[in-house]
Amino acid sequence: KESDKDTNEKLLAICELLKENVPYYDWVGFYFRNGNKEELKLGPYAGTPTDHTIIPFGKGICGQVAVSNKNFVVPDVGAQDNYIACSITVKAEIVVPLFVNGKNIGQIDIDSNTPDPFSEEDERFLEYINQEVAKIY
Ligand code: SME
Repeated sequence: KESDKDTNEKLLAICELLKENVPYYDWVGFYFRNGNKEELKLGPYAGTPTDHTIIPFGKGICGQVAVSNKNFVVPDVGAQDNYIACSITVKAEIVVPLFVNGKNIGQIDIDSNTPDPFSEEDERFLEYINQEVAKIY
């Protein structure tokens, strides 16, 4: 079993790789359930630091995915009522849950400064990434 340090280094490398190689991925990060609490805690990420390191279940796009266990694609963040703004440059967001042994333990969260950039291809790609990540847990 790998240490948390090795795991975090791998997750950080994934974030950086995605951010650098996909032009419309402007912020890429992982959130994880914080112990047994009904909240998410920010893990490794690439992009501008965010104040939102803790997000209660149900709050924002991330908090809603923690509860729904479903992908959430937001083409226009301005049209969302339950949204937590991290940066005024962000136009769109995609959040895909991370399942380990069928349990939702966290998510990958991507912000884009491009309006409506995400397709089903992004969903399938990020689901694949998360399936690979699940193997190191
Ligand atoms: N926008 C997210 C908060 C996390 S930041 O995008 C990094 C949300 O509404 O949950």
